[in-house]
Amino acid sequence: MSRRNQTFVCQNCGAASARWQGKCEACGEWNSMVEEGDGLAGLGGVAGRPAGPGRAPRKGRSFALQPLTGETHEAPRLPSGLAELDRVTGGGFVRGSVLLMAGDPGIGKSTLLIQAAGALARGGHRAVYISGEEAVAQVRLRAERLGLSDAKVELAAETSVEDIVATLSEGKTPRLVIIDSIQTMWTDAIDSAPGTVTQVRGSAQALIRFAKSCGTAVILVGHVTKDGQIAGPRVVEHMVDAVVSFEGDTGHHFRILRAVKNRFGPTDEIGVFEMTDHGLAEVPNPSELFLASRDHGTAGTAVFAGMEGTRPVLVEIQALVAPTSLGTPRRAVVGWDPSRLSMVLAVLEAHGGLKLGMHDVYLNVAGGLRISEPAADLAAAAALVSSLSGAPLPADTVYFGEVGLSGAIRPVAQTPARLKEAAKLGFPNAVAPNARGDKGERPIPGAASIGHIADLVAGIAAAGRPRPMPVQRRREG
Ligand code: TYD
Ligand code: MG
Repeated sequence: MSRRNQTFVCQNCGAASARWQGKCEACGEWNSMVEEGDGLAGLGGVAGRPAGPGRAPRKGRSFALQPLTGETHEAPRLPSGLAELDRVTGGGFVRGSVLLMAGDPGIGKSTLLIQAAGALARGGHRAVYISGEEAVAQVRLRAERLGLSDAKVELAAETSVEDIVATLSEGKTPRLVIIDSIQTMWTDAIDSAPGTVTQVRGSAQALIRFAKSCGTAVILVGHVTKDGQIAGPRVVEHMVDAVVSFEGDTGHHFRILRAVKNRFGPTDEIGVFEMTDHGLAEVPNPSELFLASRDHGTAGTAVFAGMEGTRPVLVEIQALVAPTSLGTPRRAVVGWDPSRLSMVLAVLEAHGGLKLGMHDVYLNVAGGLRISEPAADLAAAAALVSSLSGAPLPADTVYFGEVGLSGAIRPVAQTPARLKEAAKLGFPNAVAPNARGDKGERPIPGAASIGHIADLVAGIAAAGRPRPMPVQRRREG
């Protein structure tokens, strides 16, 4: 009698191996190999349909190939009724598609999704919410708190994928199915414990098959590990049509929804929500919210006119530069890339004539937003210089521009949109590179053109210097 194949699967990356190992060879994680199933895992076999030795190989069937040109259809969308959510998905859930929503525990995934399900149900669509984590009564309690008791959302607390698919295939096909969460689901086809990589992958596959065959939009909730990865196999990210991540720190009320992958829409749009006593409220104008608690007239803060997708967003960048008491000065950043901070500091030293080697530097993006645009360089530099000099920046001015290693300030895209948003929110002035329209002809009123980091340092120092700056001798050229 032949022994069934044992497979050990890394719970971090999903790599499979025939023997147990203390360290995964694929991702280097220790103690992550767990024995799973019998040869289903990864090694070419499709979960639920083992390609084992007992099966006769099937003869292939030929099919017709299609030309590239031909009839195309716009993906049929199902608007969720929450404008900020629709902005991120690109206009609503796509029928027959699967979306993975990832986020830290307690961030508000279940809240957002029950709100979306409620809004769809009120619009007359069949929406089903399957919870594998909470009892029906708990979900009801939350819906009551959100004022959704009258919405005809169908609820269940189930974890068996076969039972779920069988139930949903009966009667009228649901338009939206929410699975909260994929880590709690399990399928009979695989005999490893729920939550393991193989189970998560197998369950996701079965649900994706259901979505494609019935034209239902399926949303999978996914947990995130301590270091921000989607728990379980990364492969689920590759299997689904869209991945959105729900971010924000629990100390703030703001929550940001960001598309990480989207087969049917953009990935650079963000949706902004505020967690209130009655669930998540949409924030159509995030700039107002991010600037709401701004300190006027304090040194070390600069307002950055950024872009998130097609939407301009104004946000305050705060810096604190203080003499260090340690041998090695500290550099700490929240909401921005630490290596960009190091670069801006180096440029300020080399080309702005500042001495920062004996100073601790802290930088924070207010409101819990995370900025990835290089255009924030100039605003960060302005906040740093302002903190070092003790000279507050003018309260009605925004900053944006990319700082090059030579100290040159380089132009960034969408200057007019940034300036327009700034003017709308009471910032008539801007310090920016090449402050001209995108066509390049006419300077934009109110925008002071800046070409070099040394001009920024000189400008802030000239505006008032309550505390003498530790300035190096300016290098010429
Ligand atoms: P939840 O949606 O359960 O988070 P997740 O599914 O991502 O784990 O949200 C939990 C948090 O949200 C909890 O700490 C309480 C808070 N909350 C509110 O502040 N207001 C509300 O109306 C609701 C429903 C939750
Ligand atoms: Mg939840």
